[in-house]
Amino acid sequence: MKIITVGALKGGVGKTNFTFNLGAFLSIEKEKRVLLIDLDPQGNLTQCCQLNPEKPFSMFLFQKNTLLKNIIFETHINNLSIIPVNIEAIKLEIQLNNEISREKILLSYFRENYEYLKNNYDYILIDTNPSLNITNTNAYAIANSIVLLCDNSIHSLRAIDMVFDVWTNLCQKMEIKNNIKAIVLSNFDHYKISKDFKKHLEYSNFKNFVLKQEIRKKQKFKNSEITGKPAIKLISKLENPYFNIVNELEEKGVL
Ligand SMILES: Nc1ncnc2c1ncn2[C@@H]1O[C@H](COP(=O)(O)OP(=O)(O)O)[C@@H](O)[C@H]1O
Ligand SMILES: [Mg+2]
Repeated sequence: MKIITVGALKGGVGKTNFTFNLGAFLSIEKEKRVLLIDLDPQGNLTQCCQLNPEKPFSMFLFQKNTLLKNIIFETHINNLSIIPVNIEAIKLEIQLNNEISREKILLSYFRENYEYLKNNYDYILIDTNPSLNITNTNAYAIANSIVLLCDNSIHSLRAIDMVFDVWTNLCQKMEIKNNIKAIVLSNFDHYKISKDFKKHLEYSNFKNFVLKQEIRKKQKFKNSEITGKPAIKLISKLENPYFNIVNELEEKGVL
């Protein structure tokens, strides 16, 4: 079982779309058992899975004695499950500020439930919101790999710079290995890449983390969210970037 957290310190770069489509690709094309965890109170990943839960279930992972069976939901896609969320998560998130060892709450929950998770899932994919709040710090800390998403704006690249710096420092403080392993260029409009963007990327210290295969901006990806029908069902094999992305993520040890 591998845990992958999808992050970025900028919103709208395609994190949720990527988490949904990667999860669906792994379950449909690779026949893997995938568990999605929606940690963004906005609940966009939950909506991709066509769910509208009454409770912020993913926040119950931060409470002792939560039974996994009670918070995991099947989706309309075979082998793809989700721990969904709703906006009430914001309230619970604030309470985490007063917890002891608050960056490692999820780590101890997963340790306690490791056998169940290992026996039932090949991959756990966690979607986050664009911040390093306590919830996300937990999701970053627990990941075997962090995959960062970046669109073709210079702001987005700067946000990657920032998360690299901040997370590297936090890892040292928490005495864990830096687990950022890949960067995916997503929601990417080839016709609008500025010279600044290319230069910034070329001289960045994360150049080698960037996958060769990018995810272009296409209406079909957007449609996948609205209809719940993932890219693997909507886009031909030739046009679908996820075949190469999965290969590259395997090479980088993420999958
Ligand atoms: N490859 C893509 N092509 C076209 N639209 C996309 C693509 N990826 C994401 N989007 C759209 O861009 C917006 C932001 O994407 P989202 O995945 O929600 O970003 P984030 O989770 O980083 O905030 C959404 O409206 C989504 O439908
Ligand atoms: Mg999102």
